[in-house]
Amino acid sequence: MTGFRADDVVARLRAAGCVFAEDEARLLLAEASSPAELDVLVARRAAGEPLEHLVGWAEFCGLRVAVAPGVFVPRRRTEALVAAAVALGGPGAVVVDLCCGSGALGLAVATSLRDVELHAADVDPAAVACAAANIAAVGGRAYAGDLFEALPHELRGRVDLLLANVPYVPSEALALMPPEARLHEARVALDGGADGLDVARRVIAEVPAWLAHGGSLLFETGEAQAPAAVAAVTHAGLAARVVTDDDRGATVVVGTLA
Ligand SMILES: C[S@@+](CC[C@H](N)C(=O)[O-])C[C@H]1O[C@@H](n2cnc3c(N)ncnc32)[C@H](O)[C@@H]1O
Repeated sequence: MTGFRADDVVARLRAAGCVFAEDEARLLLAEASSPAELDVLVARRAAGEPLEHLVGWAEFCGLRVAVAPGVFVPRRRTEALVAAAVALGGPGAVVVDLCCGSGALGLAVATSLRDVELHAADVDPAAVACAAANIAAVGGRAYAGDLFEALPHELRGRVDLLLANVPYVPSEALALMPPEARLHEARVALDGGADGLDVARRVIAEVPAWLAHGGSLLFETGEAQAPAAVAAVTHAGLAARVVTDDDRGATVVVGTLA
């Protein structure tokens, strides 16, 4: 949008505590079609709405991923999980993105590996609709439901890569999250129960029946949660290892079915 002082937008965003005020101003200016619309967008951003919900997309693994209001905004640290998955997979892999949110992980893996068979699932209908639109371009299909219940049964024993960026924030820590997440992302997208690993444990318990031989489960945890997560993966009969990415601040647990 032209005819509006970019400096004013930057100043308002900076006063509201936006660290990347210049970048955000540029995106909001591009999004708004009138000064009035820009004013509303800047006010909403200053009040704490995620930039990605305002502009309708997030950048992830170099891709522009659509993110609908209320749907979890894919985090840059999760690019580490994608990199670990891509290193394990190859063309033609059967990939499942469980707890898919916007479908960003499956989309990124499918874009890197090419010709994969991609399935994505989430319990939140808004996320499923968002993911379905995002992954259609790579031939992916999205389903609604609780964890594995959402998936076609024909996938049992066939999955090469099971990506599962499950919620893993301990319930008590939710109140400490930044308002962008706490107020604008669904609790079901964040809350991992008492120690943060409740959903991960449910996935680990069921995943051996769904993986192909040599197939892998990949999920993100906090650094301090990794030992308990590894113990659960090992207990389920998978070979476990941890991938850390200091630059991205990411910890990824990988469990492989021998
Ligand atoms: C941390 S978000 C991750 C979203 C996406 N994978 C990403 O990284 O951008 C967790 C997602 O898990 C979904 N979820 C939570 N519990 C679930 C369950 N029991 N079955 C399926 N999806 C679930 C939430 O709706 C949310 O979209």
